[in-house]
Amino acid sequence: MEQASGKIHIKAYRFDPANPDQAGFQSYTVPTAEPLSVMALMAEIHALDETFACRTSTCFKGQCGSCLVRVNGRDALGCVTMVQPGETVTLEPHSKYRVVRDLVVDFSQPQEG
Ligand code: FES
Repeated sequence: MEQASGKIHIKAYRFDPANPDQAGFQSYTVPTAEPLSVMALMAEIHALDETFACRTSTCFKGQCGSCLVRVNGRDALGCVTMVQPGETVTLEPHSKYRVVRDLVVDFSQPQEG
């Protein structure tokens, strides 16, 4: 079994509607000895980089759905999806909704198809 490194490495999708041609991934590293939920991880990234946009004020119980994001290529609830120290995780906006900025989507505007 892989030894926990005390860090989680993140590749986070960045999208600024003012500069859509510059959309892409940005790398972050969050130090932690404990597993973190994706929601907690996003809050840590925002603490490192205030320009990183994500939703954090929600139910944290897997009930409201406002934490929906895409984790390692799969749509998931960020508040109940855990990431272990030593892992590398890719975070993207949920695939079913229009992206507003970074990982924030507009739940009133489902994507076509
Ligand atoms: S915060 Fe409500 S479902 Fe995740």
